[in-house]
Amino acid sequence: MIRKIVNDYNEQAEYIALAKEIMQIRKRGDVPLACIRTYGCQQNVADGEKIKGMLSEMGFEFTDKTEEADFILFNTCAVREHAEDRIFGNVGALKALKKRHPTVLIALCGCMMEQEHIANRIYKSFPFVGLVFGTHAIHKFPDMFYKSITGGRRVFERGNDDLCVHEGIPVKRDGSFKAWLSIMYGCDNFCSYCIVPYTRGRERSRNFEDILSEARSLVENGYKEITLLGQNVNSYGKGLEEKHTFAELIKAIDDIEGDFLIRFMTSHPKDCSKELIDVIANSKHISKHLHLPFQSGSDRLLKQMNRHYDRAKYLDIVNYAKEKIKDVSLTSDIIVGFPGETEEDFEQTLSLVEEVGFTSLFTFIYSRRKGTPAAEMPDPTTDEQKGERFSRLLKLQERIAAERCASMVNSTERVLVESLNEKNGMLSARTSGNIIVEAPGDESLIGTFANVKITKARNWILQGEFVNK
Ligand code: 5AD
Ligand code: SF4
Repeated sequence: MIRKIVNDYNEQAEYIALAKEIMQIRKRGDVPLACIRTYGCQQNVADGEKIKGMLSEMGFEFTDKTEEADFILFNTCAVREHAEDRIFGNVGALKALKKRHPTVLIALCGCMMEQEHIANRIYKSFPFVGLVFGTHAIHKFPDMFYKSITGGRRVFERGNDDLCVHEGIPVKRDGSFKAWLSIMYGCDNFCSYCIVPYTRGRERSRNFEDILSEARSLVENGYKEITLLGQNVNSYGKGLEEKHTFAELIKAIDDIEGDFLIRFMTSHPKDCSKELIDVIANSKHISKHLHLPFQSGSDRLLKQMNRHYDRAKYLDIVNYAKEKIKDVSLTSDIIVGFPGETEEDFEQTLSLVEEVGFTSLFTFIYSRRKGTPAAEMPDPTTDEQKGERFSRLLKLQERIAAERCASMVNSTERVLVESLNEKNGMLSARTSGNIIVEAPGDESLIGTFANVKITKARNWILQGEFVNK
């Protein structure tokens, strides 16, 4: 399906100007303050940065403290039940604050809000929440915000417009040297356990040239790490008038002059092409890291999960990557306790983990998501059994990660220095393979590339010393 690129942000100018004027009167302190709390994946973080961009245009500054804010927004995640429960708890805790400061606008957005039953529950149980909007409505945030503070009634907006890609929304990035760059939105895969296709809608790609010019401007502005984002970056380009693959896109970004690192997530094994691996192998800037979620090592469960690959195909890509990309770092997502998972299925997962040798894993216990096919599947495994499997998986991965890190001792790695670890006074940096390295050094190194000689491995964290290479 052809999607439409929409550049309609200028329609928001009037609401921005009006909201700006009103907030100068409504603010409680010297300037209007917003407290934005983002939960969940990087796509949500990127959405949060757009909302902050728009709030900045309305004259807002930002605070971490709900107590001093004039506007409080929780940007929510729906992937697991636990994340949702936390939101309900955190929102409930704001009731007293709203009583103390009645002019504060409390709002909720993100994936949770795209689910009708959740929006209804918020409407009924949390009358002090004045604005609720889903992932499809972000582009008209100034309009919704203005109506919430002037209309005298609560604004609830859930979108369903899956064909549009909205360009031109301002972004206020959280970091000064690491940037998220969305290349596409939504997901068409309908993995049977996953809520995302229902909350983020159909997959739609941004224009090749729009992405490229954003990447160029990030490099020109001194960003050292650009992470390309999409639920399934490997299927980038579907529905574009001019055909482009993800491999072509990342190659074009790699061709930009400058000293920077490109990361990307998430890859789906069914669409991960050898062409992409060849591009990574021959690139100047792309990290030697492939995050390739396999979810389960059992072919039977992969079918039930609607993943469209089997163990053999997964290993085929992994082995190709290992052969072509020197020291490639592989990471993955795994679900433990999918409905009907047997001990044998689980052992298949363990054996795949062992066979591949991942640098790190994101492991999740299956969480039932209302409205997804898996939610209807019989699930006789007890929580206790699932917990026990989960611990076995963690234990295995700890051993593998420790072995991998230990094998890096005495090597020299180029890293991007990210922050100061306040606890031990060391600088914290990341290798191209996304492994954390700590080393003593001056804070002025933060935001720069440096070489580190690895001296020690502490489980999955490396220690080292900065060296001139
Ligand atoms: N339960 C547990 N984990 C899930 N994920 C997605 N949906 C669920 C669910 N219902 C995990 C998958 C995915 C990651 C982002 O979250 O492993 O790759
Ligand atoms: Fe969810 Fe599967 Fe889409 Fe990932 S690819 S967002 S797991 S449906």
